[in-house]
Amino acid sequence: MPQVLIKVFRCNPKISTETKWDTFYVETYKNMTVLDALFEILRAKDATVSFRCSCRLGMCGSCAMVINGKERLACRTKVADLGDTITVKPLNNLPIIKDLVVDMEPFFQKYESIIPYFIGKDDEVAKTPSRSPARRLIDDMLDCITCGACYSACSMVAFDKEYLGPAALNRAYCLLADDRDAAFEERFRRINHEHGIWRCHTQFDCMEVCPKNIIPTWSIQQLKNEAVLRGLSRYRKIEEGRGAPMGEEMAGRQQRNNQREKQKLEINSKGHGLEGKRNFSKETTDEASEKAVSRKEFLKKVALSLVGITSISPLLIGIRSTLSPVTVSEAKQPWISLGDINQYEEGKPTLTTFEHPLKSGKSIRRSVYVLRESNEVVVYDAACTHLGCPVRWNEEAQMFFSPCHGGVFNKKGEVVAGPPPRPLDRYECEVRNNELFIKDFLRA
Ligand code: SF4
Ligand code: FES
Ligand code: FES
Repeated sequence: MPQVLIKVFRCNPKISTETKWDTFYVETYKNMTVLDALFEILRAKDATVSFRCSCRLGMCGSCAMVINGKERLACRTKVADLGDTITVKPLNNLPIIKDLVVDMEPFFQKYESIIPYFIGKDDEVAKTPSRSPARRLIDDMLDCITCGACYSACSMVAFDKEYLGPAALNRAYCLLADDRDAAFEERFRRINHEHGIWRCHTQFDCMEVCPKNIIPTWSIQQLKNEAVLRGLSRYRKIEEGRGAPMGEEMAGRQQRNNQREKQKLEINSKGHGLEGKRNFSKETTDEASEKAVSRKEFLKKVALSLVGITSISPLLIGIRSTLSPVTVSEAKQPWISLGDINQYEEGKPTLTTFEHPLKSGKSIRRSVYVLRESNEVVVYDAACTHLGCPVRWNEEAQMFFSPCHGGVFNKKGEVVAGPPPRPLDRYECEVRNNELFIKDFLRA
């Protein structure tokens, strides 16, 4: 029988702060899991090794630990998939009780803080058909087993000890997206702050490790969108009512940026649907509810919709490096064709991509929005002017949203909210014989 070397993290804070790695050779068998191997160590080699488990079926989440550098469930991770040497250590961001056992209290305190249970509007249990769009919107997000893997993997939890974390926010989304939720306002208040949804920097660490293939980043993104739309809605009511200054929140941001003081919020009077209590993106609802896509296809769709580029890999290795604005030093560029101008719908910013040639002879793919209006054509760079996250046009709100830190731009590319320091960058463009050409940036 082949053997595997297992390195186990050891620590007993009750006795000493010292930590060490103990190594054990374990005989393996077909389909042996890491949890089986730990039981074998316990049985035959060292009865003092501590770890936690319960169901052994991937249902309770209690055996989550860091295996070969990645958060996984020990009971669902096969030894044969891990090579000759396996390292096991406790989850990050949680106090160690002993060896592989962590104190889950901080995780569950935050989970509890978002009121993680359903509160109905009336005594009678409201029914939501299992295949209804409302139910299918959150179906994929309901499988959380509170294992804490995402909490351990999230670099923002490590950075901000008060951050609620991916699992709590994902749970909040499941309840907030439910029309029957009687605790909506209170629940929303508890997640809409700097240690809540706004602390997420869209780094996707959580979805990389979730054993249930949940995408907490997606849930958090929906909550951010809702928060922005609600903020804008409030502002519009003030504007309409008394032509008064911006709402407190936006006014605060306005003062922090002189450039933005000159800009006016332009929310066009066409119905934007901002008045409604819930504005979880219709487009997203359609994606999640109308199409029975597989988890992988779904993930791909989400990633593509966030990024607006044709490959997810550059996103995962660093949005900023891929999409940071092209410098004007690369300005001696030829005119680049974006194709027939008639393919771009009038009045609606349309996303497209092109290969941007570099001095080195290589090229990078860039995303732009083309806006055709009567006799004018504008081409915006799709990278947010804050830190380069790809902006996304929301037709309902008539705004561009940056998913990372709440940046919002109006149809003219002007900053409406959030940290972006300047409007969206524009490309010089020309239409010749119905063909659209662009050149370097025009800084607005
Ligand atoms: S979202 Fe996934 S990783 Fe996070 S606690 Fe739930 S099941 Fe575990
Ligand atoms: S023991 Fe329950 S998930 Fe692993
Ligand atoms: S990248 Fe930070 S708001 Fe857009």
